[in-house]
Amino acid sequence: MATALITGASAGIGKSFAHELAGRGHDLVVVACDETRLAALRDELSTMHGVDVEILPADLTERLDVQTVADRLADPDRPVDLLVNNAGYSLGSSFLDNDVVDEEAVLAVLVRTPVVLSHAAARGMRERGHGAIINVSSVASFLATGTYAAAKSYLTTFSESLAAELAGTGVTVTALCPGLTRTEFHERAGITGQGMPDALWLDADKVVRQCLADVDRGKSISVPGVQYKAAVGLLDMLPRKVSRAGAFRRRHRPQN
Ligand SMILES: NC(=O)c1ccc[n+]([C@@H]2O[C@H](COP(=O)([O-])OP(=O)(O)OC[C@H]3O[C@@H](n4cnc5c(N)ncnc54)[C@H](OP(=O)(O)O)[C@@H]3O)[C@@H](O)[C@H]2O)c1
Repeated sequence: MATALITGASAGIGKSFAHELAGRGHDLVVVACDETRLAALRDELSTMHGVDVEILPADLTERLDVQTVADRLADPDRPVDLLVNNAGYSLGSSFLDNDVVDEEAVLAVLVRTPVVLSHAAARGMRERGHGAIINVSSVASFLATGTYAAAKSYLTTFSESLAAELAGTGVTVTALCPGLTRTEFHERAGITGQGMPDALWLDADKVVRQCLADVDRGKSISVPGVQYKAAVGLLDMLPRKVSRAGAFRRRHRPQN
């Protein structure tokens, strides 16, 4: 039975991945800070789908906690075939208004963690000749809207680079780039989605199903939703000066 490890599995997109993958028969290792929610998720998934669910509480701002997850991924006796680097949050305010220590913490979760975990997982996957890594990035990675977008830009480019490095090995890497998705994300960031048209909001379960279909096709970038596919296609055609600049710079609006 294939095993998947999902970070940020206790809520939102990560929880949707956990349900979808358990429904497909994957055993799971679920990672998040909140141990109580992880235990509830384990009970729910094993009852509903009869799969094994291991909980691994970790605060991914902490390097030692990240190493614990990396060690689990690198354990040759308990191979992980699918890694979903999903945990993340946004500070919801501008760089200069934030404490730089908070900026370092969010960078650790959005960038350092997926880099360390991809390194730990990909070597074993390459040796075994199969596996997949999904890095949950964002459509913000195609914009220049602040340090969240900058971190997600790193993650999208990192995913494309690693996908190229692993081409022909049986291991795929996909950057999932969703737009606004209904989860706890905006509330945690203290930002409101008010005023954003309904048509822009995505459903987390649909985002996950679209992503897994793109992984099956070996795509290195997955952009769910026709509205966001069109927007990313348009951004690709605009000069960088236009696509990265003022028109897309948003303050106190939802970051996604
Ligand atoms: N929602 C959107 O509009 C949207 C759009 C594009 C991309 N994304 C990306 O999608 C991913 C998932 O976000 P979501 O929307 O599903 O948000 P969410 O509902 O707030 O869930 C975030 C998950 O990340 C975990 N997490 C946060 N900080 C962590 C830390 N320091 N250590 C370990 N786990 C941590 C949370 O666990 P705890 O509860 O234990 O803290 C939770 O399981 C993120 O990478 C986000 O940037 C979201």
